Amino acid sequence: MNQHATRVNDTTIRVPVSLLKPGMFVCRLDRPWLGTPFLMQGFLIQTNAEIGTLTDLCNQVYVDTQKSLISLQSQKRKRFSRRPIDDHFQYTPAIDREIAKTGLKSVLPVYSQTVKTLRSCFQEYAKNQLISAPILEQQIDHCLNAVLLNGPAMAWLSRVKSHSQYTSEHSMHVSMLAMVFAVHCGWSKEEARNAGLAGLLFDLGKLRIPQQILNKPGPLSESEWELFHDHPKWGRYYLEKSGFNHSVVEAAYYHHERPDGTGYPAKRVGSQTPILARLIRILDSFDAITSYRSYAQEKTIFEATKLLYRGRGTSYDQHLVDQFIAMIGVYPVGTIVELSTGEIAVVIGQNNDRKLLPKVSVVRDKNKNPTREKLVNLKDIVDENGQARIAIKSMLNDGSFGLYMKDYTKQLLIS
Ligand SMILES: [Fe+2]
Repeated sequence: MNQHATRVNDTTIRVPVSLLKPGMFVCRLDRPWLGTPFLMQGFLIQTNAEIGTLTDLCNQVYVDTQKSLISLQSQKRKRFSRRPIDDHFQYTPAIDREIAKTGLKSVLPVYSQTVKTLRSCFQEYAKNQLISAPILEQQIDHCLNAVLLNGPAMAWLSRVKSHSQYTSEHSMHVSMLAMVFAVHCGWSKEEARNAGLAGLLFDLGKLRIPQQILNKPGPLSESEWELFHDHPKWGRYYLEKSGFNHSVVEAAYYHHERPDGTGYPAKRVGSQTPILARLIRILDSFDAITSYRSYAQEKTIFEATKLLYRGRGTSYDQHLVDQFIAMIGVYPVGTIVELSTGEIAVVIGQNNDRKLLPKVSVVRDKNKNPTREKLVNLKDIVDENGQARIAIKSMLNDGSFGLYMKDYTKQLLIS
């Protein structure tokens, strides 16, 4: 054990934050868990970002040596890093690749058709024409069926980003996530349908705002803010006129309200804001934070969930944030990650018993060069003691090392 770490009992050591490493299992902090972004009171360090957060919050933490993936008994015994790992491609979970491919193939037609329908609705709206509620409702019913049959594939598509058509793509992502969330939480079919429609249409009023305001890199002037703050009112006006149901109209009107009452346009507090509007606010932020926008660099899912968590109770509904983070999990399918080997991979499947060790497809070698796709179930790459030999080092943004989910998905579908 490192001289600066102190043994507390048979299974626990106290470690200064400067000595933390991915693979250590943190079982206690030197402060209460409450008020930290960590959901679980005890977790395995997976990324350097988590170490950064611990460094911000604590001086030292307590590490469970039995639950850690790296040996902490002695500096001389480093099973995790010393063992050769170039034989880890012997295991090929080809079946998971096929499941991912089949799932994507089954949902892609309805997804693409919905994008097309949505874009034509936006065009009608731009020409001051009413949106056809029955056409969109019918389309969202097809999407909901696809979510019920293949939620993970729909969630995957919400990770595929292109840097153009942000508005329609963003609305689609929010809509799909809203339906996946509604199904996950056991909402009724009617509620799930409203969630999908609200996701598509909540920001309709923004199309009334001049592009130079929406894409302005610097801060908005007071008059520009006033114009921008009117978009929920525009949304409500047109959705009501187009005949959409009350829940969807309300979600568009109240999606910028905050639990602490500092939102707009009505400054509603807590549960005074309808639940669907509270959910859309979370999904809107989540997808925007993890997407490229002209005025902000996209962030990883880990960073986005951390921001949502920090805003619980003030900016975002506390209970819904908890449920959403529990739903998306630690490494959602369609996430780009760097492995402890230095290789770059895409998460293609989950292991319910080892959520921190998913199934991945390695697409860049340790030097970050493109490589022949290799499929690895991290859960199965263990040493003689059953300890994982490869961990996820960090989550990466779309486009890191030239890897885009859009291209990977295309390649998966045609291969
Ligand atoms: Fe908005």
